Amino acid sequence: MKIYKVTAPSNIAFLKYWGKQDEKLQWPSNNSLSMTLNECQTFTTACVQNSLKNFSFKKEGENEQEDSFSLKVIKHLEFLKKKYQFPSFLEVSTHNNFPTASGVASSASGFAALTLVAIAAWTESSSFHELEEKGFSRETLAQLARLGSGSAGRSLFGGYVVWKKGSSPEGQRVACFLPKSHWDLADTIVILSKEEKDLSSREAHKRVPTSPLFSVRLSGLCEREKLFLQALEKKDMKSLGALLELEALEIHFILMTAAEPFSYLKENTLEFLSWLRNLRQETHLEAYFTIDAGANVHVICEFSKREEFLFYFRRDFPKTHFLLDAVGDGPKLFVTEE
Ligand code: PMV
Repeated sequence: MKIYKVTAPSNIAFLKYWGKQDEKLQWPSNNSLSMTLNECQTFTTACVQNSLKNFSFKKEGENEQEDSFSLKVIKHLEFLKKKYQFPSFLEVSTHNNFPTASGVASSASGFAALTLVAIAAWTESSSFHELEEKGFSRETLAQLARLGSGSAGRSLFGGYVVWKKGSSPEGQRVACFLPKSHWDLADTIVILSKEEKDLSSREAHKRVPTSPLFSVRLSGLCEREKLFLQALEKKDMKSLGALLELEALEIHFILMTAAEPFSYLKENTLEFLSWLRNLRQETHLEAYFTIDAGANVHVICEFSKREEFLFYFRRDFPKTHFLLDAVGDGPKLFVTEE
């Protein structure tokens, strides 16, 4: 029996997907831009099981469960099976090598891995080349993955990735803007809370358009995107850093000012942000924060500056956990015979 195995990375958004213009069609309110990570990965395996009457999905080391993630997974598999009329069900199992629901996007790597491994198993493809020959280019796979979780589409590519909303839901595009080799950026993920986040990003996307700040955000994003792309192209850390921090603070303040307000930021998140800004003033170390939907902070700096950052960080936060990550290459596909 052939077992298809995928490892897919998480990604950290620089310009964030925040709010949907059309929820049913998964059409975002704005373009987004992310860096694909190297270390935070989801590992997913799939095999075709002709005897199965339903999908079997397990998180490794656990029994089959009916939690909200497992239900979303089954729904996504059912959607793919129906769309392409694949005849058989799959046995799927998965695990992450990082804490889930903590500001590291486990749904991004999870749905990227799931989509890729399921299509590979159904089409008996053992490489991206074979998938493309069968009509599943990386772009098509990204379009399918984003239907499971928006940010997952970006995890199909390595390096620096854009998701353009286009002028209609059908006109959306996901593509690599610059490869990993363009700029060696490091991401140190500072774990300030290990708790599961208490508001799903799906619910956050629903709430943010009700903030009076939301339309102000949208009106400036076209210009901000241009500046982000320029900063990346020119490897201009100062400009990139200023944009990263503005973007992170803005999305959190929008949620905090929604009709039903919520804050992912904890007291120690805010303390950490001022610590980082003070450190920058004192040492001129070019390290900047960004934060996704969670309390944990991603510190972005050039790879060559990471040791210096870690020196100060370990000195001042000796008990705080962190994950070391950096820009990565994108998902990988393997097949074994058992
Ligand atoms: O992909 P979702 O629906 O989990 O939304 C992700 C939202 C953010 O992580 C906050 C931003 C982003 O673009 O990844």
